[in-house]
Amino acid sequence: MLIVANWKAYVEDFAKAKKLVATSKRLALKSRDTIILAPPAPLMGAFAANNKSRVAFAAQDVSLTTGGAKTGEATAAAFAAAGASYALIGHSERRAAGDTNALVTEKLTRVFAHGLIPILCVGEHERDGDGRYLAFIREEITTALAPLTPKERAKVIVAYEPLWAIGKTADAAIGPNDLAEMTLYIRKVLAELVPGKSASHSLVLYGGSVEPGNIRALAASTSVDGFLIGHASVDPVAFSILVKQLERQS
Ligand code: PGA
Repeated sequence: MLIVANWKAYVEDFAKAKKLVATSKRLALKSRDTIILAPPAPLMGAFAANNKSRVAFAAQDVSLTTGGAKTGEATAAAFAAAGASYALIGHSERRAAGDTNALVTEKLTRVFAHGLIPILCVGEHERDGDGRYLAFIREEITTALAPLTPKERAKVIVAYEPLWAIGKTADAAIGPNDLAEMTLYIRKVLAELVPGKSASHSLVLYGGSVEPGNIRALAASTSVDGFLIGHASVDPVAFSILVKQLERQS
């Protein structure tokens, strides 16, 4: 399984980042799962350079630009140079700040141009009774993958993160049955876009209030390949429990 820790802007000091990185490296040594940390950019730079551990690093976003006179932008190339192997693209908090489907698509091409693997975040705002949220998810995935080559499409990791479940507690997260249904749907959409057998290898993650209280149930009864974890990933105790729970599961 993949466990992606999205630190968002929760972590703002070196000591806390150091503790979380050390905890993750310790956990990764004993786990068959892959741990990917997505710290704020400057902290990622401090820990990902020359990283030889089993923990990998992800950018939380990349700039649309390709470099040049763009003060304040952090490009995919700069993240790759700093030691990132992955990049979150289209997180709902970036979409709320202006990332449209078209911008998300462009960012994906930047990410691939610099050898990073994108974790494409998709998710509906709310669930309606007549299933329009399914069309919404399909649109997010289809537009994002459209300009990519077949090989690139096969590499995209999709993280399903319904907005109504983000930043709450375990009891507000999605239930195992609804998640199983959505995972299946996303795999069906991917099978239409990713050629041949590669589609069956596409990774699908879930994010939105994953906590020690619900991770086992979610992992047990659905076909997700891992989790994108926000607030619970910046608490070393909660994060350790999460990783160990998954380990017991697999
Ligand atoms: P959360 O965040 O775990 O705090 O709900 C997940 C995310 O937004 O990636």
